[in-house]
Amino acid sequence: MRKARGKRQEARGKKVLRDACGRRIDYLRISVIDRCNLRCVYCTPEQGVDLLPRDRILAYEEMLAFSKVAVINGIDKIRLTGGEPLIRRDIIGFVERMAKIPGLKDLSMTTNAILLEELALPLYDAGLHRLNIGIDTLDPGKFKEITRGGDVNQAIKGIEKALEIGFSPVKINVVIMKGVSEDITPFVKFIKDYPIHVRFIEYMPVSNGLKSKFFVPISKVRDQLKNVEGVHKAPAPVGFGPAREYYKVGDSAGTIGFIPAMSEHFCEECSRLRLTADGKLRLCLFSDTEVDILGGLRPKVDDKKLTALLKEAVKLKPAEYSIVKRDGKGRTMSQIGG
Ligand code: GTP
Ligand code: 5AD
Ligand code: SF4
Repeated sequence: MRKARGKRQEARGKKVLRDACGRRIDYLRISVIDRCNLRCVYCTPEQGVDLLPRDRILAYEEMLAFSKVAVINGIDKIRLTGGEPLIRRDIIGFVERMAKIPGLKDLSMTTNAILLEELALPLYDAGLHRLNIGIDTLDPGKFKEITRGGDVNQAIKGIEKALEIGFSPVKINVVIMKGVSEDITPFVKFIKDYPIHVRFIEYMPVSNGLKSKFFVPISKVRDQLKNVEGVHKAPAPVGFGPAREYYKVGDSAGTIGFIPAMSEHFCEECSRLRLTADGKLRLCLFSDTEVDILGGLRPKVDDKKLTALLKEAVKLKPAEYSIVKRDGKGRTMSQIGG
């Protein structure tokens, strides 16, 4: 279906990016900052991470210049990530300019919602209308522990504000962790009250050694849902990532879905590229191969060079992931943006 649409668009003369395997690449995730106001245990190592010096972080102007070139060449969905995107100064002004890029069909953001109560309205007014929120447990004590200090009530206030303003869809990412988020009961209750799409994500041991401590296969969570009364399949909300199988419980306002990040491959359908805050294009979440786009941005923006670098990067996208090749020295999830 996606392939057919891509072919039709190509036939109409619209530029389409294809990798060496023929996959259409139309979704760019931009990490606007490597810093975060939380320090989730699965994302940030205890000893902290080496943060980029400020002058190595791309200016908004540079991210915008690259995005425009990417959209001309076939990207039509952009997600802003971090670290935590809402802590970067003047993120609202940046969103406003991104939302106006001609040809961009979908602009979204992944945030931890800690600053959302205050920023939801200006974000919406700037042109961002859908949000994904990382929140792994609704229990204040567990949340504090897992985020090393965060306040879950602050995040929930942010979610409520976003719903009140009209963001849609609002999705929640729950990374499944042993003893923290493997029980679906609190979230089943949550979707009865809120029109929220909760996605349980299989924990990915990216550059940390916590697999044996936390990993729970997604089947364990799926099996719990089977036993909940009134469960039935629901249509998927708007989205372009790897989530699949959404369910409602009775006439619940929201849904529950799954992202089997480890146990099922969705590489064949992968449409994504990632841009890091320091200007490197990453071709796969699990591969440290990067293409540096700085040569097309500095000393001045050069659209031709940027186009060539983008095309070069797309051709390097691996056919499928290989987590075994990672040596643990690569970027952490907070530096990649998930
Ligand atoms: P939608 O457009 O709403 O579907 O967004 P999304 O699901 O792509 O974005 P989000 O930032 O909410 O990501 C949800 C989870 O999917 C995160 O844990 C990501 O790390 C994970 N994810 C996104 N892309 C990939 C991928 O290519 N491979 C794997 N293994 N996980 C991915
Ligand atoms: N495994 C699975 N998902 C992760 N995320 C961050 N780190 C991991 C991990 N190790 C998810 C969070 C965040 C999104 C961008 O990526 O849910 O919201
Ligand atoms: Fe920050 Fe998200 Fe990483 Fe948690 S998972 S430390 S909120 S970037």
